[in-house]
Amino acid sequence: MSAAPIYAFDAYGTLFDVHSAAARLSGRIGPAWERLSELWRTKQLEYTWIHGAVDRPATFWSLTERALDFAIAASGATVDDATRASLLDAYRELAAYPEVARVLRVLKERGARLSILSNGDPDLLERAIDSAGLVGLFEHVLSVAQVRTFKPSPLVYRLAVEAFDVVPGSIKFCSSNRWDIAGANAFGFETLWINRLGRPDEYPEMPPSRVLTSLDGLLE
Ligand code: LAC
Repeated sequence: MSAAPIYAFDAYGTLFDVHSAAARLSGRIGPAWERLSELWRTKQLEYTWIHGAVDRPATFWSLTERALDFAIAASGATVDDATRASLLDAYRELAAYPEVARVLRVLKERGARLSILSNGDPDLLERAIDSAGLVGLFEHVLSVAQVRTFKPSPLVYRLAVEAFDVVPGSIKFCSSNRWDIAGANAFGFETLWINRLGRPDEYPEMPPSRVLTSLDGLLE
């Protein structure tokens, strides 16, 4: 009998729709909400890369708050304190993409072992899993908090290898973030790029093993 497939999923942008927070508040923010949301995500990621590169640990939440403040200032959107607080509340309870719960349930029924491997803080991940209806699906919820850095540090990808006690090539790593796929490829994972937005490829030396347009491709 072949071993059960092992999956590690990136969380933000792969399982959880990071733009659903600003979308929910779009009526209060106005037409600049999309620019604000893009800037929020871009700066949040940039801050994780810089903090990782200079070895200054920080919580994902503190960087998410700082990134929101930059995005508010730079986007031209009018966001009062109450709307800022509502945006942060909405980020704690992001929507999952529509196919996520169904696909993960089917994979689990078929015997796959599922995990999350994310930059998110442990409490933030638990709350997102709960509000998105994904409780009970994951054997491991692995946060960078354990190693006090961020992806794409190999220390982070190693968490999954240690949790499942397998070699890197035994882990199917799924992410919508192409830079995360590059890091995971360099570490030695099998990589599945969930290219939801049909973005052009990057990082040719660190290619994905497969490219899918949504998690549905995992069931084929
Ligand atoms: C995560 C970020 C990178 O969940 O989206 O790790």
